[in-house]
Amino acid sequence: MSAPAPRLGVNIDHVATLRNARGGGAPDPLRAAQMAIEAGADGITAHLREDRRHIRDDDMARLKAHIAKPLNFEMAATGEMLDIALQTRPHAACLVPERREERTTEGGLDVIGGHDHLKPFTAELSRAGIVVALFIEPEGDAIEAARSIGAPAVELHTGAWCNAVAGGHHAQAEAEFARLKAAAAMGVAVGIECHAGHGLDYETARQIAALPQIVELNIGHFLIAEAIFVGLEAAIHKMHAAMAAGRAGALVL
Ligand code: PXP
Repeated sequence: MSAPAPRLGVNIDHVATLRNARGGGAPDPLRAAQMAIEAGADGITAHLREDRRHIRDDDMARLKAHIAKPLNFEMAATGEMLDIALQTRPHAACLVPERREERTTEGGLDVIGGHDHLKPFTAELSRAGIVVALFIEPEGDAIEAARSIGAPAVELHTGAWCNAVAGGHHAQAEAEFARLKAAAAMGVAVGIECHAGHGLDYETARQIAALPQIVELNIGHFLIAEAIFVGLEAAIHKMHAAMAAGRAGALVL
């Protein structure tokens, strides 16, 4: 029997993006989180950016207070975010790079150059009982650095692979997938839990779910975009089915 399908963490940042476009209260990211959980999401992911372009401080507090599944707090490794995370006490924290001019998180953390900066953040969050994941490029060096930093988990950046798939660049997509596969195998070999995310859709989620070492996928933009057409509940059901089919080695019809 194959391992259970990966957990699905639903990132609700872009519900807040839409809300902020008008400056009012709708659509409410907490309502989306609750609906996602009712539809079977295993956790909720939200990124409190330094510029608060989507999720805001009170969103994080409301999510923590009112959702019935684990909250994954995506954050930059800054003193301000550490204070908020320690106050919020989410189940997990995913440390990501952040530059103001980025539209989204474009690359993984520089875990080699940033080793000595990231280590105390990881230690302090861990001491508070928060499960730390480092968002990294799928590279052996990065896995080794994450291990040395003391992170119990990594999230492998799937963006380059998803872009290659979407662009129809088959050879590059194959090479990127091979990188993900090798990194996941190495992660598990050194005792690190492997998650993955960024840019995933039904088809890429199905494919990456076939890697047995990957135990969690965090997916946002595509699900919120699909929700416009089919509703959030249907999009999450279809995503779960794709992930289960990938894990079972079956095709989604
Ligand atoms: N994981 C991390 C660490 C991210 O920064 C993001 C983007 O916010 C995601 C997953 C979700 O990516 P997407 O919105 O493309 O599904």
